Amino acid sequence: MELQKASSVSLAEVTKQKEYIELTATVLRARFGHETPKAFVHTYGCQGNVSDSERMKGLLAACGYAFCERAEDADFVLFNTCAVREHAEDRVFGNCGALKPLKEKKPHMIIALCGCMMQQEHIANRIRKSYPFVNLVFGTFAFHRLPELLYKVLTSGKRVFETDETKGMIVEGLPVHRDRSVKAWLPVMYGCDNFCSYCIVPYVRGRERSRTPQAVLEEAKQLIADGAKEITLLGQNVNSYGKGLQENINFPELLRRLNALEGDFIIRFMTSHPKDCTKELLDTMAECEKCARHLHLPVQSGNNRILSEMNRRYTREHYLELIRYARSVMPDISLTTDIITGFPGETYEEFLDTVSLVREVNYTSMFTFIYSPRKGTKAAEMDDPVPYEEKSRWMRELLAVQEEIAAKRTASMVGKVFRVLVEDQTREKDGLLTGRTAGNVNIDFAGEASLVGTFCFVRVTQAGNWILHGERVE
Ligand code: 5AD
Ligand code: SF4
Repeated sequence: MELQKASSVSLAEVTKQKEYIELTATVLRARFGHETPKAFVHTYGCQGNVSDSERMKGLLAACGYAFCERAEDADFVLFNTCAVREHAEDRVFGNCGALKPLKEKKPHMIIALCGCMMQQEHIANRIRKSYPFVNLVFGTFAFHRLPELLYKVLTSGKRVFETDETKGMIVEGLPVHRDRSVKAWLPVMYGCDNFCSYCIVPYVRGRERSRTPQAVLEEAKQLIADGAKEITLLGQNVNSYGKGLQENINFPELLRRLNALEGDFIIRFMTSHPKDCTKELLDTMAECEKCARHLHLPVQSGNNRILSEMNRRYTREHYLELIRYARSVMPDISLTTDIITGFPGETYEEFLDTVSLVREVNYTSMFTFIYSPRKGTKAAEMDDPVPYEEKSRWMRELLAVQEEIAAKRTASMVGKVFRVLVEDQTREKDGLLTGRTAGNVNIDFAGEASLVGTFCFVRVTQAGNWILHGERVE
């Protein structure tokens, strides 16, 4: 566990939560004696949630919890939920229902649900009514208040619901418990102001707010000192970093300052919105030797009418111009994207524009989603005549195209040597390591476990669709 330096925003809140950490720790010691209480934290959804969970785990560890891998073994179960698609929500309801018999066997178990799903009133109400064994519910705005909320549950014996959204503050200086040290998540901004018509995020994560550059740089320095070799800057829309801060700073400037830090590490970031992806950003990536030559630039659709209905505020032509410029300044850049198929009213012909764009850009990989209506968003009110099965067919067609592209791309990498960050040993076979190129492609190769967390040069010997196999070159 590491302690960040307190820097700005709400020192009073930090002091208050530190007091609650002490109080909660005292209650837990009284209840568990010499045994260490165990917490199971399960995270759904995006890296933003993973990062929030690391911060909540830091708070739990400070309260005295150790962590376990299964809900069965836990005294405290926390699900950090995702609201971006219905499927993710269904999984939470299913997994939460499965906790009921556990709680019957172990009545002192505290069950908590938090995150994006809980920030929606209809969901919190459903939990209140139909899941009476859930003790604690809190939304995205309250995650740093976990010690206080937990203390209330422990001492009152009552259910606690905290989904107030008035406090969209950033709290610095609380502990963080990171799952891995080589690859680190570093949030630079929270929230989203874009209101893409299909997306629930602006409703559940609130308005954009940036951390100060001092807070980001301090945390980055600490991560590097602790052995991080890859730092991924996080935000729903990192390109609007700096809006609302006292200091006049934008995202490219933040990248330049991070790039200037000492140490052998690489910088990634996600997510960039194409409407705010500037030539300055692309030039900065090209200039900064620590920036991975990888850009995740979600296009969502290749058709201008659909892009307009999605409220994306760029055209296919503008997007392709950005890609052309990115490649002109970084010929080896690897591009990845997100795509939604079956947006309300989308026709097959319009979908084919997405397919042609995918062929034109030649992505390294992409995340594809079938449109999922989200209550409260504009798109959820639109006519949506195309049946789900048809949308699934389009999706399969798109995936087949991407597979063909990926196969060609990986085949063209055979024989070449890449600098790879060794992330782990593979589970399947002893003596095999797995790493990632700067372009974000996975590669397996034989090597000693001691190489995990270092950079190695690896020659690609064989290409599969999603993974490369290689051998280490000295
Ligand atoms: N349905 C399907 N996919 C969605 N995404 C966001 N909202 C929805 C939705 N309602 C996808 C977008 C976004 C990614 C994180 O999730 O592609 O970029
Ligand atoms: Fe959702 Fe659009 Fe914001 Fe991304 S930019 S979080 S898709 S509203």
